[in-house]
Amino acid sequence: MSEIPKPAHVFDRDREWAGLVRFATSPSPDVRLGVVSGRRRQGKTFLLDALVEEVGGFFFTALEETETEALARFSRALAVRTGGGRYAFDNWDEALERLYIDVPDGLIVIDEFPYLSKVSPSLPSLFQMAFDPRGYARTSRARTLLCGSALSVMGRLLAGNAPLRGRASLELVVNPLDYRASAKFWGIDDPHLAVLVHSIVGGTPAYRREFVANDVPASMDDFDDWVLRTVLNPQIPLFREARYLLAEEADIRDQALYHAVLGAIASGNATRGGIAGHIGRKSPDIGHPLAVLEDSRLIAREADAFKKGKSVFRICEPLIAFYEAVMRREWTRLERGQQEAAWRDSHATFLSQVVGPHFEGICREWAMFADAEVFGELPGEVAAGTVADPHNRTQIEVDVAVLAREEHGRPRRILSLGEVKWDKMVTAAHVERLRRARDLLSVKGYDTSGTVLACYSGASFQEDIPGDVRLVGIEDLY
Ligand SMILES: Nc1ncnc2c1ncn2[C@@H]1O[C@H](COP(=O)(O)OP(=O)(O)OP(=O)(O)O)[C@@H](O)[C@H]1O
Ligand SMILES: [Mg+2]
Repeated sequence: MSEIPKPAHVFDRDREWAGLVRFATSPSPDVRLGVVSGRRRQGKTFLLDALVEEVGGFFFTALEETETEALARFSRALAVRTGGGRYAFDNWDEALERLYIDVPDGLIVIDEFPYLSKVSPSLPSLFQMAFDPRGYARTSRARTLLCGSALSVMGRLLAGNAPLRGRASLELVVNPLDYRASAKFWGIDDPHLAVLVHSIVGGTPAYRREFVANDVPASMDDFDDWVLRTVLNPQIPLFREARYLLAEEADIRDQALYHAVLGAIASGNATRGGIAGHIGRKSPDIGHPLAVLEDSRLIAREADAFKKGKSVFRICEPLIAFYEAVMRREWTRLERGQQEAAWRDSHATFLSQVVGPHFEGICREWAMFADAEVFGELPGEVAAGTVADPHNRTQIEVDVAVLAREEHGRPRRILSLGEVKWDKMVTAAHVERLRRARDLLSVKGYDTSGTVLACYSGASFQEDIPGDVRLVGIEDLY
């Protein structure tokens, strides 16, 4: 079958589209089941909807409902598709049998699958049986896609000894758009503005559409006003979104504890001990919330580039970081309509706790995907790193440490050490610190012979920076 072009209304997602089309049009009889997951509002439904438009099939969206209600809705939906008739299935076994008779080809999409499997836990096994050589699905050439955002549930679907393990030929995760694609999606040409907007709404497509009714800041001058009009405006859905994101995660009961953990990370207390200390709990007490947040990909653990055993947690969803650092502290004033005062008083916090760390993350992402000529070869690993400086009794924080791939029996090569500044000038003093870090690392046994010192800046560079230092300005990042 020939390639199905991606419809014009679908932005980016070329790789996702290609994978879905390959799945939907594969001639192999073994290709039956695919699983599509990803956090809320990334465009899973949007993509699958576009695909079903192209290839035909049957699309069912589950709701939070009882098994009886779900079956009744499913019966009606299938009856409508077949045109007339009435179905009243007593159980999912019957429903699936009919499903594969009535849908002989194309795609069968079950969206929000976790809602179904929650009230009908045997459903994954029933699908497994349907895909057996003698199962119901043998009569149909249709491919089935199970889709959902509860990552814990979707992950478990294919894990270990789960019934559907080994059956899926496609496991597609729909991630947020990267920072460059986001700028394009928002139609923002000014890279400064793009960083600021991305530091609040990240790469979630829905946040530019439904959530702010397509309100895009016109220029840097419009940015503060845009913040007041949108994310800080109680009448706009984006205002409560960070809270909903957390509330929707099925495994989260004690909201206050989770917000406290996220708040600690947002304020820069991002090691396990740091988080525990910040919220006044013991380290073991926060193991569970950290694991749940990590499973749902709201936070990620990043190992220190140089200090074995040390890792920091980062909030993956910028909107949540913004909420924790800025909005939660100002919630009362925000709800009472005192946006302007709240935003004015949050300016310094916004810069230091939201934009600063976010911009460092963007620089690391840029470094990770840099061409070979930038650092001499393709990076193996990029992370922030801490270097102890015993002589000066301090730690040197390296914002962007780029390491070559690990090679057995050879010292680890450091491709680059970099300092990031969003709104301050990078000076020769910063470069001196990087040099010191490089010397200390070399003493520790790293190979620093080819280490490129780098400065990344959203502002400017002082002229006294030596010529061998690589300068990465904001235009280079986009
Ligand atoms: N590739 C895209 N191009 C243009 N708009 C998109 C794209 N992806 C998502 N959107 C926008 O984002 C909105 C939300 O997407 P969608 O509802 O598909 O997310 P989802 O991943 O299914 O979320 P949920 O888990 O909450 O159901 C869409 O209605 C659309 O406006
Ligand atoms: Mg959806």
